[in-house]
Amino acid sequence: MSNRADQPCFVLDQQAVSFEEGETLLAAANRAGHHIPHLCWHPRLGQSGACRLCTVKVDGRLVAACTTRATPDAQVENRSAELDGKRRMLLQMLFVEGNHFCPGCEKSGDCLLQATAYEMGMTGPKFEEFYPLRPVDASHPDMWLELNRCILCKLCVRASHEVDGKDVFAIGGHGVGVQLLVNSASGKLGDSSFSAGDFAASVCPVGAILPKRRGFAVPIGERRFDRAPISEQGEQRDGGSDDDGD
Ligand code: SF4
Ligand code: FES
Repeated sequence: MSNRADQPCFVLDQQAVSFEEGETLLAAANRAGHHIPHLCWHPRLGQSGACRLCTVKVDGRLVAACTTRATPDAQVENRSAELDGKRRMLLQMLFVEGNHFCPGCEKSGDCLLQATAYEMGMTGPKFEEFYPLRPVDASHPDMWLELNRCILCKLCVRASHEVDGKDVFAIGGHGVGVQLLVNSASGKLGDSSFSAGDFAASVCPVGAILPKRRGFAVPIGERRFDRAPISEQGEQRDGGSDDDGD
């Protein structure tokens, strides 16, 4: 991408990236086609800083790229062996904290967690698996809620609040008991105001919120991240998860 002469730039891994006033490092890098690993960021939603996958070094200091404003001439280190190693550790913790069985998951090949793990060179879980007991909520006529795969990124929480204006989801609990909650009298998705047309229905980066009666529409091996690694794909997402860039 060419940078306009009158626009301020920061330097991301030796490459100049222009930015608009108030833009974050991650938003500007994404717009310019650079990949900063992330799980809880979406260009349509407000900042969260939940996953820390986007941690970069700015002038030697560790910061979250999704919550840090770009400043002129800042030197930003992104894809170094040290930072990717920290990211790999975070991913390994996420994988053992939930139940992620990629070969049996409809999201395989379209999953941001899986694609990012491949990108970071993660080859195994490293830590002992928790194998938590989590329910599958099949109460909604059109959507599944598979909490075994939830990584607590809060994208659905923010999408429902900011875009859908519904507040269907929240995060509750403490410590290892933290989980995604559904805002209905029974706590079931089917008793909430959630609808398959909601933005929150398409924003999940993993296979925790999926439509019913749709499986293998695109065969395994031909899905987005099967075709090319995440770092080689433009990520200028503006909508849902599968085909438009999550
Ligand atoms: Fe994130 Fe999906 Fe869990 Fe919602 S259900 S918090 S979008 S992983
Ligand atoms: Fe920045 Fe998750 S993408 S903390």
